[in-house]
Amino acid sequence: MTDLQFNYSKALGFITEEEVLAFKDECKNHLKSLKEKTGKGSDFLGWIDLPENSKSLIEPILADANSLACKSDVVVVIGIGGSYLGAKSVIDALNHHFDSFIEKDTPNIVYAGQNISEDYMSDLLEVLDKKEYAIVVISKSGTTTEPAIAFRILKNHIEAKYGKEKAVERIIAITDKEKGALKELSDKEGYRTYAVPNDVGGRYSVLSPVGLLPIAIAGYDIQKLIQGAANMQKFIFSDNTSFEKNQALIYAACRNALYRKGFINEVMVNYEPRLLYVSEWWKQLYGESEGKENKGIFPASVNFTTDLHSMGQYIQEGLRNLFETVISVKCGNKNIMIPEDISNMDKLNYISGKRISEVNHMAEIGTTLAHIDGGVPNLQIVIPEISEHILGQLIYFFEIACAVSGYILDVNPFDQPGVEAYKRNMFALLGKPGLEEETKSINLRLNNK
Ligand code: PA5
Repeated sequence: MTDLQFNYSKALGFITEEEVLAFKDECKNHLKSLKEKTGKGSDFLGWIDLPENSKSLIEPILADANSLACKSDVVVVIGIGGSYLGAKSVIDALNHHFDSFIEKDTPNIVYAGQNISEDYMSDLLEVLDKKEYAIVVISKSGTTTEPAIAFRILKNHIEAKYGKEKAVERIIAITDKEKGALKELSDKEGYRTYAVPNDVGGRYSVLSPVGLLPIAIAGYDIQKLIQGAANMQKFIFSDNTSFEKNQALIYAACRNALYRKGFINEVMVNYEPRLLYVSEWWKQLYGESEGKENKGIFPASVNFTTDLHSMGQYIQEGLRNLFETVISVKCGNKNIMIPEDISNMDKLNYISGKRISEVNHMAEIGTTLAHIDGGVPNLQIVIPEISEHILGQLIYFFEIACAVSGYILDVNPFDQPGVEAYKRNMFALLGKPGLEEETKSINLRLNNK
């Protein structure tokens, strides 16, 4: 058993139980082909065994995390897409909401190279001028423009601040084992490095050093995270786990049953602001894995109750082509009661004495019912709490469900050919050598408008 429950009873009426169970053989075959590495993209299945294979890295990662943490107020994680979203999703889920305002033993983690904003970089440099800091630079290819620009700037900054020799002790690179610009630079400068396994794509890399090192620097228990994933792996692949009990397969089946009924958008819902980046990580995982060959469920996300006051209207009454998947957390970590007020000017005494989480829970139930009434099928993932162990389970659950769901759609869930299109235009516009023809043709297109 795992601690995560998946429930699709609130999607029934939009899809039938038979329609979900009809995916049984297909899902089981896809799971088998993941295990036996016989499906599309089978050279990118290293993530399946990361829970086991990352265990030997725990010790060196903890040592490096400790060495960076003890000399830094801030650690800058440079990376984009799968090279930062996994780490940020786990760190944000576990962090104090007002992390940068509290006293703690661990450094603040900030991010760079996930955008090309000059203002963002300028503000970051302003902060780093006044703080002790270190850098973890992550790029599997080692050639991605956004992190490469950020690292060039921050490398200059950190070397100017500490001197070249000392700066080397404050930089760790996570990149390909043998090739790419970042690998070459790291070897030349003598940075400590970790390898992103060849057979692990960016968006499936959170349980490799890509996610584990930043998470460990932030002070969270990577052993528990990996153990949670390992437990989920064992359960999903066990011969004793029936299709009906295999939450990841049932989730993949439900999504596709809904998709075939015209529900082409999936909205990931949370009621805990600390889960915002879990949804961002999930969107990348599912969007890049499934959205190809003019197919795929569009992954979106909302944060309730905040977004009930913005997106709630659309979900309730807009186009009826979306379904929700709610991450429902049974138990929060803190306890605050709504106080009694003698004047009761705000008319809230009817909920005085209740915990805030109780009100949040009622909002969740009320919203779910309203959305179902409005024509929005509802899937539910119930987790008992937000902890390293549970996040490990959740990550692995989503990864397997994504791979199986991609196979049901008959796409390769492990490539991302479409990500290249914007880059070529951008490089041509910037005058990259070798792209002169593209530059000419883009300029013609732009001038014709
Ligand atoms: O999932 C993916 O492969 C991508 O989103 C990459 O993670 C992202 O483009 C960053 O690539 P890289 O780590 O090579 O810089």
